[in-house]
Amino acid sequence: MQRKNQRATVPVQTIQDPKNTQYLVLQNLTKVFRNTNGHEVRAVDDFCLTVGKGEFITLIGPSGCGKSTTLRMIAGFERPTSGEIIHEGQIITHDDPQDRSIPIVFQNYALFPHMNVFENLAYGLRARYLPQDAINHDVAMICQMVNLVGIENRFPHELSDGQQQRVALARALVLKPKLILFDEPLSNLDARLRLQTRSEIKRMQQMLGITVLYVTHDQSEALSLPDRVVIMNRGRIVQIGTPEQVYHDPASLFVSDFISNANFLDAIVVSVKDHQVGIAIYEHTFKVPAERCDGNLEPGDRVMVSINPETIEIRAHGEQALPGYIKGVVELSSFNGPLSEYKVTFGDTLIRVVQPNIRGRTMIHRVGQEVGLAFEVATFRVFPAQW
Ligand SMILES: Nc1ncnc2c1ncn2[C@@H]1O[C@H](COP(=O)(O)OP(=O)(O)O)[C@@H](O)[C@H]1O
Ligand SMILES: [Mg+2]
Repeated sequence: MQRKNQRATVPVQTIQDPKNTQYLVLQNLTKVFRNTNGHEVRAVDDFCLTVGKGEFITLIGPSGCGKSTTLRMIAGFERPTSGEIIHEGQIITHDDPQDRSIPIVFQNYALFPHMNVFENLAYGLRARYLPQDAINHDVAMICQMVNLVGIENRFPHELSDGQQQRVALARALVLKPKLILFDEPLSNLDARLRLQTRSEIKRMQQMLGITVLYVTHDQSEALSLPDRVVIMNRGRIVQIGTPEQVYHDPASLFVSDFISNANFLDAIVVSVKDHQVGIAIYEHTFKVPAERCDGNLEPGDRVMVSINPETIEIRAHGEQALPGYIKGVVELSSFNGPLSEYKVTFGDTLIRVVQPNIRGRTMIHRVGQEVGLAFEVATFRVFPAQW
């Protein structure tokens, strides 16, 4: 293995500003595993990503799509089959993990069970031969920061899940890394603690200016934490964008399905003209702007329409039909505080609608009531049905 002092330097022309915009470059990163039965698995396939200094990136995709393998290659626990990893202008692809100091925080904490909190945190500092004074100082600082003061002498089995996860986070932070990898760090925590810990992580990252790659399968984490989201499927990147971009403009049905909890409806193309695609869903026709439609669509084509639930307006249906609204019947009505969620009949299916609740202004629609639905056609995404 290549040692630190033998690191190759990247040719100048490939990196203009390695300290900032190209802080971490993953170039055509590929990992092929050979199973015991001789089959090859392309766990990560031609993964290309350039991460800026201080950027927060989430990596999301279905189980087995190569998220952990990507992180493990960056940390040095897995050797890429091909491709390069360039960190601060240095090729580190084949460096040992201890030469890169890029910690991974896991969901199963991986704390040393026979060491108390203090010793768990001091471990990495001792490995760096820091004097005891400096260790005491750094551990105390980090305990303050992640709220572990007073429990430094406890052992992992004497800690709650949330505390254990904070120790795992502190153990990574105490080494003052500039880049941290997280692999589904909050999966073991209950919903409330998950929210709390995730805002802690974000606060810490902003305060310390750390660059983060954060793997999750939770779409709300994937959207709420990062500057950019990377969506993976079968080892490949299928979309990279800001949370707004991937949510509002998913590149494929797969992304839309993964990111948005949208309604997916079958439709038939009935017209293509004037930069609009006419699509029929049951007996209703919608004229969708052509830029919201993928593929070379022609009349007669079957398509899948993705409609986000918050873009649908729901109104009580009085004696008279509301012009422009499509009639439906409420089949499910659930009040969640800030939002109400409805399932309303639409043709022979149910469509999910989410509306904000504003006291004195919003009407709550009950099960069995007739309502009118209005659609925001410019927010539709239309994909060819075969995908
Ligand atoms: N050591 C290994 N040997 C063989 N196959 C592996 C190994 N590690 C991971 N894989 C396979 O590589 C693929 C990606 O795995 P992983 O990166 O763990 O996915 P994710 O973290 O997205 O769930 C999966 O098909 C998995 O079975
Ligand atoms: Mg994984």
